[in-house]
Amino acid sequence: MMAKFITLDGIDGAGKSTHIHFMKQWFEQKKIPVVFTREPGGTPVGEALRNLLLDPRTQASLNTETLMMFAARMQHLEEVIWPALNKGTWVVSDRFTDATFAYQGGGRGVPLHRIEILENWVQQGFEPDLTFLLDVPLEVAQQRVAQTREKDRFEQEQSSFFERTRSVYLDRAKNKPKQYVVLDSTQTIEYIQKQLGNALEMMLE
Ligand code: TMP
Repeated sequence: MMAKFITLDGIDGAGKSTHIHFMKQWFEQKKIPVVFTREPGGTPVGEALRNLLLDPRTQASLNTETLMMFAARMQHLEEVIWPALNKGTWVVSDRFTDATFAYQGGGRGVPLHRIEILENWVQQGFEPDLTFLLDVPLEVAQQRVAQTREKDRFEQEQSSFFERTRSVYLDRAKNKPKQYVVLDSTQTIEYIQKQLGNALEMMLE
C-alpha cells in the first residue's frame, strides 16, 4: 500500500491539538510508520520562517507573507514530506496549503488565483490524500484561544478576518468532498475521534 499524506486544518481555536494526539495513538496502534509535522515549519528553514511569520512585530506585506508560507512549504516538501512518502512513511501535517487559501486568501484578501499559481509552482499537482477540516463557530474558537494562549500575529486578527477564513475552508471542502472530512468541533471529542478513526481506516483499504 502506498503511504498517504494527510492534513489537518481549521481556524485557530478549532481544537487541532487534541485530535493530533488521538491520531498519533491511532498510528502507533496500527504500527504504521508515520511522521507528524506542521506548517509553517517542519524543517529548520521552515521553523525560522514560522518565527518571523507568527511574531506580532513582523511587518510583512500580504504578498511577502504568502511567499514566505510557500517558501516554508517548498522546503517542507523537499526535506520531509516527499522523502518520507517515497520510503513508505505516512505523513500527517498540522496545516498545509488550505491554510494559505483560507488565511492569506480569505482572511487577508490575496486573490485566490494568485495563490493557485504558487500552489502549482511549488506542488506540481501534489495534494493531500485526505484533509480533516475542523470546523467551529467563531465565538467558540475565540473563547478557546483566549483561554489557552498568548495570541500570535494571526490570532490577533478581528472576527471578520476569521469569518472569511472559515468560509474559504468550508468552500474548499464543499468543492472537493472526496478529499475532505469536515469535523464539527462543537461535537464531543469521542464523536469526532470516531469519525477521525473511521476516515483513517478507509485510507487503509
Ligand atoms: P498554528 O500552529 O497554531 O496552527 O499556527 C499557525 C498560524 O499560521 C495559524 O494562525 C494559521 C497561520 N497560517 C497561515 O496564515 N497560512 C498558512 O499557509 C499556514 C500553514 C498557517
